[in-house]
Amino acid sequence: MRPKGVKMATISMTVNGKQLSGEAQGNTLLVEFLREELKMTGTHVGCDTSQCGACVVHVNGESVKSCTVFASACDGGTVATIEGMANDDGSLGVIQQAFQDEHGLQCGFCTPGMVMSIADILKNNPQPTEAEIREGLKGNICRCTGYHNIVKAAQSAAATLSGAAQAAE
Ligand code: FES
Ligand code: FES
Repeated sequence: MRPKGVKMATISMTVNGKQLSGEAQGNTLLVEFLREELKMTGTHVGCDTSQCGACVVHVNGESVKSCTVFASACDGGTVATIEGMANDDGSLGVIQQAFQDEHGLQCGFCTPGMVMSIADILKNNPQPTEAEIREGLKGNICRCTGYHNIVKAAQSAAATLSGAAQAAE
């Protein structure tokens, strides 16, 4: 329940292509807004202190830790979350499928942030080296996998996406 006297504002943003609105305090974090107000719980909170990367989303095309951004700062903006990474028919998107194929997850808690970070890496560098992938994922912590299969998933997704891009040319 909302405490009495707390000032709320209506925040609107385009999330995964849909225009959505909700109420937020001035200090409501974007991850809280997504999970609690918009009920989009695919984005996880692993630490709340900008360490783990489980909360990574894209805001206006840039990868951000959504526990470090106020929802109000995203008012009128464009947000992409893990829920938008699936294909239109609900099947796994390329990066998600690569995680499944390469066994890139165990408990899955870090996976939404990993997928969003890899999407950002591949957008800026479609054919990254292993070192570039590891560097790009340095803000994402996984306590289960030892990272190796996550890197393999990123490499697999890069190969699939590059192949698709070449086929489309
Ligand atoms: S919850 Fe945002 S970095 Fe851990
Ligand atoms: S799969 Fe468990 S934290 Fe990464």
